[in-house]
Amino acid sequence: MTKVGMVGAGMVGSAAGFALVLRGSCTELVLVDKDAARAQAEAQDISHATPVSHPVRVSSGGFEALAGASVVILTAGANQKPGENRLSLLKRNADIFRDMVPQIAQAAPDAVLLVATNPVDLMTALTAKLAPNQPVIGSGTVLDSARFRALIAAKVGVAPQHVYASVLGEHGDSEVLGWSSASVGGVPLAQVIDLTDAIKQEIEDGTRGAAAQIIAGKHATNYGVGAALALIAEAVLRDRRAVLTVSGPSPYGPCLSLPRVVGAGGIGATLTPDLSEGEKAALERSAAVLMEAAKGLPE
Ligand code: LAC
Repeated sequence: MTKVGMVGAGMVGSAAGFALVLRGSCTELVLVDKDAARAQAEAQDISHATPVSHPVRVSSGGFEALAGASVVILTAGANQKPGENRLSLLKRNADIFRDMVPQIAQAAPDAVLLVATNPVDLMTALTAKLAPNQPVIGSGTVLDSARFRALIAAKVGVAPQHVYASVLGEHGDSEVLGWSSASVGGVPLAQVIDLTDAIKQEIEDGTRGAAAQIIAGKHATNYGVGAALALIAEAVLRDRRAVLTVSGPSPYGPCLSLPRVVGAGGIGATLTPDLSEGEKAALERSAAVLMEAAKGLPE
């Protein structure tokens, strides 16, 4: 039995739950939301996908329904409005987490906690403080790395599964695109295409600006982040030891994203990617942005 708890049954939580069912990542999924009717309706709707995908038992309930979960995904909270940046959500979502996380930890003390709520790096650090006895992972820049890889893949003309490229640092405006370690089938990207400034700028804009662009059109992002959450949760549930740019403690000070090995116990080894001088400086700047924003987190 592998049970996943989903706290927050809004756009992101329901998309992540749906992705878990389509992947067959778990045998049980329970949705928890302050809006119990929403959680129940999303659970019922997602359960109608199980006969045509995987036999996952889908239900909804209160925090007590999280009992026995191996992974609990935290998506509850306010999301960015058009023109808003992720860091501006800190106060509102920190208040929600201060109330919510102790109840989650009590209901599912053995679960790996997977944080998606933005600003995800700071919410990951807060969750680790509020639930000090269990592993905590932030979804970090797994989604951004996927966006980066997809844009490179389209430019090169290969499947995105065969592009290895990482976005590091803050899941936000200061994130760092790891151009110097990007490769296509193991061949350095710069040897595969003529990496002009114009191409780099186009891909930078497309990666950094994706969320704002989507939010302008539909007021939220959910499918990309939902799929990323399902991938991370499955890496834990199946002890995949997948290398993913999730958010966690870092030598740069705050929680931020680096390539890390994700398996049954949560985050294992953290890898140190090759960085150019410019990338190193940008990563330090990203850490500084998060450290400054963290001052807004009352003790
Ligand atoms: C995004 C949200 C999840 O980048 O921050 O789509």
